[in-house]
Amino acid sequence: MSGDLKIWHPFTQEALDSLPIRITRAEGVYLYTDDGRRLIDGISSWWVNLHGHGHPAIVSAIATQSAKVDHVLLAGFTHDAVEDLRGGLQKILPRGLAHIFFSDDGSTAVEVALKMAIQYWQNTGRPEKRSIVALDHAYHGDTVGAMSVGADSDFTSPFRSLMFSVHRVHSAYCYRCPVGKTRATCEIDCVDQLARLLAEKGNEIAAIIVEPLLQGAGGMIVHPVEFLQRVRRLCSEHGVLLIADEVLTGFGRCGKMFACELAGVAPDVMCLSKGLTGGVIPMGATVCTSQIHDAFVSPDRSRTFYHGHSYTGNPIAAAAGVASLKIFEREPVFDRIAAIARIHRERLAAIRNHPAVGDVRSIGTMAAIEIKAGDPGYASKLRPRLYNFFLDAGVLLRPLGNIVYVLPPYVISPDELNYVHDRIAESLDLCRA
Ligand SMILES: Cc1ncc(COP(=O)(O)O)c(C=O)c1O
Repeated sequence: MSGDLKIWHPFTQEALDSLPIRITRAEGVYLYTDDGRRLIDGISSWWVNLHGHGHPAIVSAIATQSAKVDHVLLAGFTHDAVEDLRGGLQKILPRGLAHIFFSDDGSTAVEVALKMAIQYWQNTGRPEKRSIVALDHAYHGDTVGAMSVGADSDFTSPFRSLMFSVHRVHSAYCYRCPVGKTRATCEIDCVDQLARLLAEKGNEIAAIIVEPLLQGAGGMIVHPVEFLQRVRRLCSEHGVLLIADEVLTGFGRCGKMFACELAGVAPDVMCLSKGLTGGVIPMGATVCTSQIHDAFVSPDRSRTFYHGHSYTGNPIAAAAGVASLKIFEREPVFDRIAAIARIHRERLAAIRNHPAVGDVRSIGTMAAIEIKAGDPGYASKLRPRLYNFFLDAGVLLRPLGNIVYVLPPYVISPDELNYVHDRIAESLDLCRA
């Protein structure tokens, strides 16, 4: 007997943070606590939940599937649930993405994409193309490969010795423009650094990985569509693969099914997770073009993609994914998304000139306010004050340092969303510089 076994909570400093809140029920946009409170889930429980907690169609699909085939390995086997999910995704994925490789979560979807890109060039006789380009402020997950392509931060610094080096280039963080431009003078000059890198070292570069249009954990940074379009063009010109990490942005978050659609861009590889199952069960997927896939098909076994996880393509997760896609077909999901986007825009316009506000930005269902005072990052002193203020008001928001953002499940009502924005407007008085 090992004595008391305790849960070690993620991203939690037990010496400083308050005890975890026990949730006893989740329904629609609400989380219910064991001490009788009700919290609006303003961040979709880490950006996963799409259609509200406990959606009956997803609950029922999970129950039915569990009784039918609970789990079976995907090497040498397949099953209806994962085939149905493949079929559903085929209808909505950008053209050109023809092969789907399942994994467990966002980080593993990213690991798969990186490994696929590296081995693709080996299998096609270009082993020298083996480095990766990543954007400043990027976040792609917490496994070692995903951390390597993420921005340097307090989260990653203890693990520097484990991580591989990547080329880092500017992101289009307009509020803190890396090349000192303003919107009026900007010609997407921040992409020139990537252009120079690819001109010089394109022959050694396998891929660039980007969070298309919205960098999430790095600060809810919204890019102009032209940035992604220019990145796509440069990749095509220099024979570099474009990996779009749509783990956060996929499944409607940015206003279209995928953020790449908003820019009219087709990536070579796309990473999916979070909303893939409606935000109910973990599942990851990496989708690629036939050109990439076909480079792995050979009588020579060494060209095989030797990667897999025990729960790859889990039938229960796949059934939840199928049910979530059907909700998109049967319910006015994109009307809900448009209504959220409209309220976000109106409410941000109303506070943009508040003395505490540095920048406001929104895309689809995401609205963010960058406060002038305080620092970005978990170490910010403002963060716990704001976090507790929102909890006391019955709203779950987790500011990213000095950046307060809302990313609700799509079923949030206008009244509920306005309530959240009212609390954000009130909170600004806590944040005067
Ligand atoms: C863009 C992006 N990629 C990857 C991940 C990692 O996903 P997971 O936490 O499921 O491993 C995240 C998580 O927030 C993300 O935002």
